[in-house]
Amino acid sequence: MYQFNFNFEQFMLDYWQKKPTILRQGFSNFDDPISAEELAGLSLEEEIDSRFISNHDHNWKVEHGPFDESFFGELAESHWQLVVQAANHWHPGAAQLVEPFRRLPQWLFDDVMVCFSAPQGGVGPHIDQYDVFIIQGQGQRRWRVGPKDMGQYQETIKANALKQIKSFEAEIDDVLEPGDILYIPAGFPHEGHTLTPSLSYSIGYRSPKEQELLSNFADYVLAHDLGDVHLHAPDMKAQQSFGEIKQEHLAKLTTMLKAATEDDDLLREFVGSMLSQSRHMLNIVPEEDESSEQEIQQYLFQGSELHKVAGLKTLYHDTHPTVAYINGERFDVSEEIQSQLSLLCNLEHYNRHHLPQAPTAEHWQLLTTLVNKGYWYMDEL
Ligand code: SIN
Ligand code: CO
Repeated sequence: MYQFNFNFEQFMLDYWQKKPTILRQGFSNFDDPISAEELAGLSLEEEIDSRFISNHDHNWKVEHGPFDESFFGELAESHWQLVVQAANHWHPGAAQLVEPFRRLPQWLFDDVMVCFSAPQGGVGPHIDQYDVFIIQGQGQRRWRVGPKDMGQYQETIKANALKQIKSFEAEIDDVLEPGDILYIPAGFPHEGHTLTPSLSYSIGYRSPKEQELLSNFADYVLAHDLGDVHLHAPDMKAQQSFGEIKQEHLAKLTTMLKAATEDDDLLREFVGSMLSQSRHMLNIVPEEDESSEQEIQQYLFQGSELHKVAGLKTLYHDTHPTVAYINGERFDVSEEIQSQLSLLCNLEHYNRHHLPQAPTAEHWQLLTTLVNKGYWYMDEL
């Protein structure tokens, strides 16, 4: 169990999206949830997004996984870093690190990126679009963090797709030890430099961009065949100037545009659907043989747990708890079991102690559907 050694409410008030900080011994007696060997093992897998960054003699090079085992037999002593994205989707230990961060909403959370760095390894100075908590595991790294980007840092692309900036003045320049946490809001330049072989864990949060909301909303409208109407203006008058867009016509077009973006029901659906889709591949293995409701009942009553697929997004609007959005899909229940639906969205593991006093047929149906879709799974017994 990972538990913070600091007051998270106070952290939110003082630092969240305001300024970077080091939370010294944010976790006391920190134990790495994964080993360097296990991390290398993940990077051999096709579905897992990994990269290897080296910087021998200032030559930046990025190689993308999956790697084969021989790759790790020939490594230099220094100047490289292995990065595995969404390690929490594939490694239960890495997923454990998310637990203490559950005070931040699931819809903002992106993934746990795990890095193993040899001495002198790093990804160079850069700026992220993510709010990130970098937890130092084994080893020591020196981190420099500069003032927020107000357009003064020029990005260049090094090697393939490694975005870096030139230098920056550091406002934080410190060495992280195991259990220390560095929080960096989006937009603050930073650079990690490895002193001794290091494991670190980046808990990333991505706030949607206005651009992204608009473009995803347009996609949603098209996909659902909404707004398939042309401007209708039977009251149009003959006009004098061919090139003119009349104010009243602009107003009609504006009204059309606004109608879509002012439909609260539509926006709620869109936001639920959009935010419940993970950006990273999930380890969903649909059941080969469908489970029956009786099997799920027996499984729970014998004391076993149902597990949610790691990283699966399970959301609901506080105002409409009879609807859940799971992996972009909408699930509706009656008011009778809405609190169970919320519970399923909030928990990672579900057992008989979570069952209501008298579970209804609808309740068992819901659990069975979620299992048969591969969103929740049973232990292999
Ligand atoms: C790193 O650990 O060097 C990469 C993490 C980051 O800078 O966001
Ligand atoms: Co970064």
